Amino acid sequence: MATRILFVCLGNICRSPSAENIMNHLIQQRQLSDQVSCDSAGTASYHVGSPPDRRMAEAAKAKGITLTGRARQFTPADFERFDWILAMDRQNYRDILSLDQSGDYAHKVHLMCDYCRAHPDQDVPDPYYGGPEGFTYVIDLLMDACEGFLDHMLEQPVAPPSR
Ligand code: 4NP
Repeated sequence: MATRILFVCLGNICRSPSAENIMNHLIQQRQLSDQVSCDSAGTASYHVGSPPDRRMAEAAKAKGITLTGRARQFTPADFERFDWILAMDRQNYRDILSLDQSGDYAHKVHLMCDYCRAHPDQDVPDPYYGGPEGFTYVIDLLMDACEGFLDHMLEQPVAPPSR
């Protein structure tokens, strides 16, 4: 069975759909479609049903990535459906864990930037209220993190329970 990855940000219109589509691009390049599948979601409901932000789509397109999908909200059922849940920033991380009252799924939840190899960032910065350079930076950062994560995951396909 394929390993399932869920990328999570706040609105699911900028960072997490970018991560999902970048990872799908890497999966195709490496011919891993039978082994890995991806989705994305937002902790908030403001943009449910919306396509990716136009400014984010333009920045992705400039790097050869086409953004697809419609926003949806993260739900506790996602804890069961996915093997890895990757939060774009520390607030997303806390918001996801706050929905896991039992603590049973904490071992699946990780910070995206922990897998960066070329960037020192701890968070994927929220580009929503900034200029175009913020969107380009998100794509560069996510390319680094997605490559690092994919290499890590292929060595360890399912996150082990922490206890
Ligand atoms: P995302 O970006 O979490 O990367 O999708 C945002 C999208 C919308 C808002 C904030 C961040 N918002 O405040 O509406």
